[in-house]
Amino acid sequence: MSNPVYLALDLPSLDAAKALAQKVKGHVGGLKLGLEFFCAHGSHGVHEIAQVGLPIFLDLKLHDIPNTVAGAMQAIHVLEPAIVTVHASGGRAMLEDAKAAAGEHTKVVAVTMLTSLDERDLVKQGIGGTPHDHVMRLTELAHSAGIDGIVCSGQEVGEAHKQWKGGFFVVPGLRPAGSAVGDQKRVVTPRKARDDGASVLVIGRPISRAADPVQAARDIEATL
Ligand code: C5P
Repeated sequence: MSNPVYLALDLPSLDAAKALAQKVKGHVGGLKLGLEFFCAHGSHGVHEIAQVGLPIFLDLKLHDIPNTVAGAMQAIHVLEPAIVTVHASGGRAMLEDAKAAAGEHTKVVAVTMLTSLDERDLVKQGIGGTPHDHVMRLTELAHSAGIDGIVCSGQEVGEAHKQWKGGFFVVPGLRPAGSAVGDQKRVVTPRKARDDGASVLVIGRPISRAADPVQAARDIEATL
């Protein structure tokens, strides 16, 4: 089985990101580039990182009218990303058009509810029910729109996997046993998330900020 760990390259400099990716490439399965990276370094930066030879996850969280999102998906086609994120709350037509415009080897995965939001934010947006209800509603929407899967926390992946057997589940917010939690609140270990049905494990700082990133990546790999 291939390594499910995608290293989040949340580093300000392209050179530093590429150097880190080169170092750990034997012990992770892919590389995640976020919106900040893409705004700073564009497709040139993605091509540079792709030279490392691992699959690329473009975490752009696209959210706009269907035509615009489809156009953006077509524009990033040449970068051949393995995974791209969109917002489930963009609605069914947007999700369908995003999937139709993506390359055949690109998984389109929906963000349900940002973990920075809570129940009070939902009330202010006029959305009823608990955050959990909202996440499950959007998961159902993503499933029925025919995209590949969702981004969810390690706490939700077990239930989401039961509800959507063939889904592709991307799980961030993971911490190996004993490592610093940082700003992540509800964390689980990579192994637990994997056992509960995660397809991809997004891990950043436990590797990128480790004194020895290669050893940290190896240690995580060994637990899987
Ligand atoms: O450093 P850390 O392992 O916390 O990095 C996690 C990565 O996953 C970051 O790139 C972060 O933006 C992303 N992410 C997250 N929580 C979410 C969605 C994405 O931590 N709910």
